[in-house]
Amino acid sequence: MNRTKKILLVLLFVFIAIQFIQPAHNKSGQLLPTEFAKVYSVPNNVLSILQSACYDCHSNNTRYPWYSNIQPMAWMMARHIKNGKDKLNFSEFGSYSVRRQMSKLKGIANQIKDDEMPLSSYKIMHKNARLSKTDKLLIIDWMQKTADGLASGN
Ligand code: HEC
Repeated sequence: MNRTKKILLVLLFVFIAIQFIQPAHNKSGQLLPTEFAKVYSVPNNVLSILQSACYDCHSNNTRYPWYSNIQPMAWMMARHIKNGKDKLNFSEFGSYSVRRQMSKLKGIANQIKDDEMPLSSYKIMHKNARLSKTDKLLIIDWMQKTADGLASGN
């Protein structure tokens, strides 16, 4: 067997071996009382954009695509979900202090304004997470208005 063949065989073996190490899925199946849509009256059009473009990494329930069982994709996804939820979890939004909620609402508007979110790697595979200009304006406007409302105590 020549060198290239040996290397390929080792790589194939490693690829197969890592398939057996699966991270736990982010799926609680529960709708907590602290869920964003329960603590704010979020209009349907705003909510459906957030659900299709953000909730996979920023909530306790991810909709897993078919390739999510293939390594190393699953690890990458698990890392994004963990880091995403640490910073912003729509399922637990109501448990944040008012101050933190306000800063997250503004943060969401800013991340969308700057095209930082959703992550670009996510947009490659999720067409409906590529937000139109109208979608972006709708979210930015609603987040800003809601943050201002909190600031003035409404
Ligand atoms: C593929 C996963 C993924 C998707 C989808 C995603 N995010 Fe994120 N988001 C992350 C990760 C990971 C971080 C943490 C980034 C970091 O630490 O630099 C983050 C950070 C953030 C932050 C910063 C929070 C803070 O306080 O620092 C905001 C706000 C945010 N995302 C909003 C959104 C919004 C709004 C959407 C949908 C339009 C979205 N994200 C979609 C993974 C994602």
